[in-house]
Amino acid sequence: MNSNLSLLQPYPFQKLRKLFDGITPAANLDPINLHIGEPKHATPDFIRQAVVDHLNKLSHYPTTQGTPELRYSIADWIMRRFDLPTINPDTEVIPVNGSREALFSFAQAAIDTAAASGPYVVCPNPFYQIYEGAALLGGASPQFINTTADKAFRLDFSQLPDAVWSRTQLIYVCNPNNPTGSVMSLDEWRQLFELSDRYGCIIAADECYSEIYFDEHKPPLGALAAAHQLGRTGFPRLLVFNSLSKRSNVPGLRSGFVAGNAQILEKYLLYRTYHGCAMNPASQAASIAAWNDENHVVENRRLYTQKFSMATAMLSGATAAQMPDAGFYLWFKTPISDTEFTQQLRRDYNVTVLPGSYLGRKIRGINPGENYVRIALVASLDQCTEAIVRIKSLLNNLGYA
Ligand SMILES: Cc1ncc(COP(=O)(O)O)c(C=O)c1O
Repeated sequence: MNSNLSLLQPYPFQKLRKLFDGITPAANLDPINLHIGEPKHATPDFIRQAVVDHLNKLSHYPTTQGTPELRYSIADWIMRRFDLPTINPDTEVIPVNGSREALFSFAQAAIDTAAASGPYVVCPNPFYQIYEGAALLGGASPQFINTTADKAFRLDFSQLPDAVWSRTQLIYVCNPNNPTGSVMSLDEWRQLFELSDRYGCIIAADECYSEIYFDEHKPPLGALAAAHQLGRTGFPRLLVFNSLSKRSNVPGLRSGFVAGNAQILEKYLLYRTYHGCAMNPASQAASIAAWNDENHVVENRRLYTQKFSMATAMLSGATAAQMPDAGFYLWFKTPISDTEFTQQLRRDYNVTVLPGSYLGRKIRGINPGENYVRIALVASLDQCTEAIVRIKSLLNNLGYA
C-alpha cells in the first residue's frame, strides 16, 4: 500500500467518537447534532423533480466535461454572481462531483513530485481536513498559516519564510472560511496573487460557502471577482471550487464546479478523464435547474440569518459569540478546554459540537483551534434555539455568561 497513507490523521469525527467513549448523554433530552457541516434545510422540490425527470439519461455514459448546457448554466451563474464580463464555459469551467472530490483530486494532478526540492502545499490552520490529506497523498508536505482572533482570522502570509514559499506548488484557501467564518478582503487577494506570481504556486480557492451570507447587499468577494478587479486577465494560476451542497441544500446530489485558468483546467480535465469521475446525467440536469434559480438560495440565507441573529443575541455577554462574515458555523470560544466543553455538553445537555483543536494542528507552538468549538447551525431554528439555551446553561454552570 501507499506508505503516505500512514501519514493521514484520523478524521475529526473519528476523534470525536473516541472523545465520547464512556460518556452517556442525558437521556431526558433529545439529541441535537451540530458537529457536522451537513445542510439540513429542505431540498427544493424543483431540484428533486429534475432528478426524477431525467432518470432516462442513466442509459448513457456521461462525459467528464459534462454537458454544454450544464457548463453554460454554471458560467452564466459565475458571471451574474461575481460580476464578470465573461467566462468561457468550454475552457474555464468543469463540473465536478461536489467540491470535496475536486479539492482532493486536484492536488494529485497539480503537485510535481519530481521537483528538485520536495513540494509544499500551504493551507490555513485550522482547516478543512481534505487539504492536508490531498497534500500528503500527493507526495507534498503541508505547511500551515495560523489564523487567530487577534488578527481577525486573516491570512498572515508573512508567517511563512521565503524558503517555504519557494517550494510551495499549491495553496488552498477557504473563502468563506470553515471554521472561522472569515471572508478574504481584496487586499488579502492582492497579497496572495503577488505570492503566486513570485513563486509560481497555484491557488485553489475553496468557495463552497460563498452563498451563505447575511446581508443580501453584501455577498462575499470571490477569487475570480478579486482577480478580475485586479486586472488579472485569464485568472493566472487560479482555480475556484464551488458547490451546490450548501447553496441549494443538496449535499447528496454531489454537484459542484471548478473554474478558472484554462491551461490548468485543460490538464486537470485530462487527469479527470483517467480518474473516471464524470457526473451522473440526472445530477447534471438537476444541477442546471439549481444554478439557474436564485429564489431558493435567498430563502436559504434567510433561514441561516434568523438562526445566527438568535444565537449571537442569546450568547452575547461575557462570552460574546462573533457573527461570522459568512458560512454556517459559529466559531465559539470556550471558557474551558474545547474537548472538555464538548464532553460536558454532550453528557449533560445531549448537544454535539466539534472541538476546534480537531480541525487544527499545533504549528509554531500553537493549535489555533484549541479552546474553540465549531457549532454548525444546520438544524431547524427551534432545535438551534434549544441547543443555544442548553449551551447557555452549561456556561452558567461553569460560572460564565
Ligand atoms: C470547506 C469545505 N469545502 C468543501 C466541502 C465539500 O463539500 P461538497 O463536496 O459537498 O461540495 C466542505 C463540506 O463540508 C467544506 O466544509
